[in-house]
Amino acid sequence: MELNRRTVIAGAAAAGIAATTLGGTAHATGGRKPVKTLFGKLADGTKIYSWSLENGGTRLKVLSYGGIVQSLEIPDRRGRYANVSAGFDTIEDYVAKSPYFGALIGRYGNRIGKGKFTLDGKNYQLSVNDGEQSLHGGAQGFDKRVWDIEPFTKGSDVGLYLYYTSVDGEMGYPGTLKTKVTYTLTKHGDWRIDYEATTDKATVVNLTSHVYWNLAGEGSGTIEDHELHIAASRYTPTDSGLIPTGELTKVAGTPFDFRKAKPIGRDIRVSHPQLVTAKGFDHNWVLDKGITARPEHVATLRDPASGRTMKIATNEPGLQFYSGNFLDGTLTGPSGRTYRQGDALCLETQHFPDSPNKPSFPSTVLRPGQTYRTTTVHTFGC
Ligand code: BGC
Repeated sequence: MELNRRTVIAGAAAAGIAATTLGGTAHATGGRKPVKTLFGKLADGTKIYSWSLENGGTRLKVLSYGGIVQSLEIPDRRGRYANVSAGFDTIEDYVAKSPYFGALIGRYGNRIGKGKFTLDGKNYQLSVNDGEQSLHGGAQGFDKRVWDIEPFTKGSDVGLYLYYTSVDGEMGYPGTLKTKVTYTLTKHGDWRIDYEATTDKATVVNLTSHVYWNLAGEGSGTIEDHELHIAASRYTPTDSGLIPTGELTKVAGTPFDFRKAKPIGRDIRVSHPQLVTAKGFDHNWVLDKGITARPEHVATLRDPASGRTMKIATNEPGLQFYSGNFLDGTLTGPSGRTYRQGDALCLETQHFPDSPNKPSFPSTVLRPGQTYRTTTVHTFGC
């Protein structure tokens, strides 16, 4: 947690308010061990647990189904907490109708054209679940799998290790993929995600997280007033199936220019063919920093009304900004309010969509003996 984390606590002390009313226990000095409770059961009786973590003023709830962030609470400039991620309050809703709310995405974030690719001369056909395309790993992606979760506390960090092994051929992908994702809450309230994977056959991998953000609080209405900055001079335009054409197009002079922070709503209704096709923003930005050894700052989201901000740092080369275009008022969140178009947005750090079919894009191939490693850090402030 950045900026006035101290101010909030100091302000609470001055007002004679117990710090627990602001951040729960121990948020100023370090986290406590994650707590596990039963969330619900799948149709086959499998128990799904919810893990609650808290550190540095950030509160996180994670499900063993899909590694889903079911709730992420942070304070506003006056210390008032809100859950800033869209979701549901029952496992049944997640299973039946979730548009990937809060979930871990694998094996491949975003689309692979026609669900086909060729690797080392072999053709693969993936599960197709979005028109002709394979989206977010196919019909039963990592978002619909049960993850093994182990809690940890390390120094001033608290977190969870999430494990899932995807068998050879699952959703059409080659190789047994062993995946470990680490969710860490730091003493500053940052939420860090470390992804790791190994394989026993050459394959492709592109893991990401699909939290739907609304920094004013889930269920509070549109994100069009949020200001967004993306450190990217180019993006990857798509065809009508939302598959990149392969071009890297300059954002200058287009609605896709977020190099200076601007309200999301400012240009979202511009009749630009790319916005018309996607019904808003649903594109991959080519981050100027490229692939980096360490996470570097690439985007900032700010809700001027509450003062809440989120900065994203990653070592990935791409960022999918999806402005919640397909939310249509038919899903109801934990607040009891429906999600309409643009009521939440996703910022998914990634390699570019359809890379397995785009030799000019950075490679997503993972081979036996290599370890896939990427990291994304969300830093909250107000
Ligand atoms: C994609 C959208 C898709 C959404 C699913 C996003 O990551 O870019 O096209 O509709 O996920 O909820």
